[in-house]
Amino acid sequence: MEKREHWGSQLGFILASAGSAVGLGNIWKFPYITGENGGGAFVLVYLLAITIIGIPVMLAEFVIGRKSQRNPVGAYHALKPGSSWIIGGYLGILTGFIILSFYSVVGGWTLGYMIKAITTGFRNFSSVEVAGKHFGSFVSNPWYAVLFHFIFMGLSILIVYKGIKQGIEKWSKILMPAIFVILFLLIIKGLSMKGAMKGVQFYLSPDFSKLTPKSILIALGHAFFSLSLGMGVMITYGSYLSKKENLWTSALTIVGIDTAIALLAGLAIFPAVFAMGFQPNAGPGLVFNILPAIFAKMSLGFLWGFLFFLLLAIAALTSAISLLEVVTSYFIDELHFNRKTATVLFGAVIFLLGVPSALSFGVLSKYTISGKTFFDIMDNLASNYFLPIGGFIISLFVGWVWGTKHAVDEIRHGSHNFADVHLITLLAGLKDDPSHNSPVHVWTLASTWGIFLRFISPVAIFIAFLFTIGAIKL
Ligand code: PHE
Repeated sequence: MEKREHWGSQLGFILASAGSAVGLGNIWKFPYITGENGGGAFVLVYLLAITIIGIPVMLAEFVIGRKSQRNPVGAYHALKPGSSWIIGGYLGILTGFIILSFYSVVGGWTLGYMIKAITTGFRNFSSVEVAGKHFGSFVSNPWYAVLFHFIFMGLSILIVYKGIKQGIEKWSKILMPAIFVILFLLIIKGLSMKGAMKGVQFYLSPDFSKLTPKSILIALGHAFFSLSLGMGVMITYGSYLSKKENLWTSALTIVGIDTAIALLAGLAIFPAVFAMGFQPNAGPGLVFNILPAIFAKMSLGFLWGFLFFLLLAIAALTSAISLLEVVTSYFIDELHFNRKTATVLFGAVIFLLGVPSALSFGVLSKYTISGKTFFDIMDNLASNYFLPIGGFIISLFVGWVWGTKHAVDEIRHGSHNFADVHLITLLAGLKDDPSHNSPVHVWTLASTWGIFLRFISPVAIFIAFLFTIGAIKL
């Protein structure tokens, strides 16, 4: 078998993984769910969700990936040959197909809006209602919807086609800094507008009365989607790591970047919303309906609008390539496809699977199952079912089946730096043992992370899941 390609640098790996995590979830969804669920109060709950499921599961995925040097299916097989846990791997590949198929449709919209910004400056988006009508006619136009979905998938294919170093890593190193720069510009612009502070207040001042038990579930679910967990993206990216890299600090850094960008996205959006006298009535329409109406009124609105949708498009693209890489790596490792064929072929399959989603807002909008269009069904299936189930399987597999002892052994490769292991021990309130290699130390690491992974994460995922499927009602 060919030697497995590895990341060229730790930075490249971190930027690629952060690129997967930072996506539509951060820039489009996080700001509006935060606005709806009590601002700062919700942020606190979200941080808790990340701590109890985000960090433990991400670390578990990296461990499985690096140890096995395989795609999700191959990874389960390598660590527990012949067991039925491999279903977790297959579920991951299937989830990759499904999420990318509809994610690319929305990615396509962002491309379309970039063009609209440049060509029209959103001049005819005179009010939120009018903007909503324009949005409706854009997404319901079958030609546009499919064309932009096609272009977006094409871009993802072009990057993944080139492989890890020359494709994913190279582009992440260009696109991720671009995200920071654009976001920074937008925040400065937003904050410098008159009346901006009201937006900051709305966004971040904690309102505990708006924080309901449901907010906690929203936070748990969002943690999964936002961190790209539960389907093996991080297993796959981890499989291109060498033993030198420190898994624990990598996971913390990636989670940190993802959370920071989500918070900053709100700071780029809400100050402008308030400064221009719009109602935040946050919600899914925020980005496509309210913002264009704001750009229409701003001086140089075409430029700000272009930058905003470019930001959204880049964030979506770096997530899309990770989804495609999961699918591609499976066909390369397990079925011995070459990379180029696998990328183009399965990219095309995903494009086709996405066509009904692209048409769900127009010609296919009448075809629904209990009120849900094809797009909604795909989204609901993947985000509310497959990701949590996949995450549940990963945490049980590493926590109980393969075992945290093996896992900690793997984590120790590359964790020569002491600070990180200290952190884990501190978090648990345990006494640290200064000799890194002592069994006590391993025990400490295993027990802290292990407790999360064996008990807290799966239980939290399970309870959240029961609520989602309506088995328990709030
Ligand atoms: N994390 C991405 C976002 O926030 C979405 C994603 C989910 C990507 C699952 C890969 C896997 O938009």
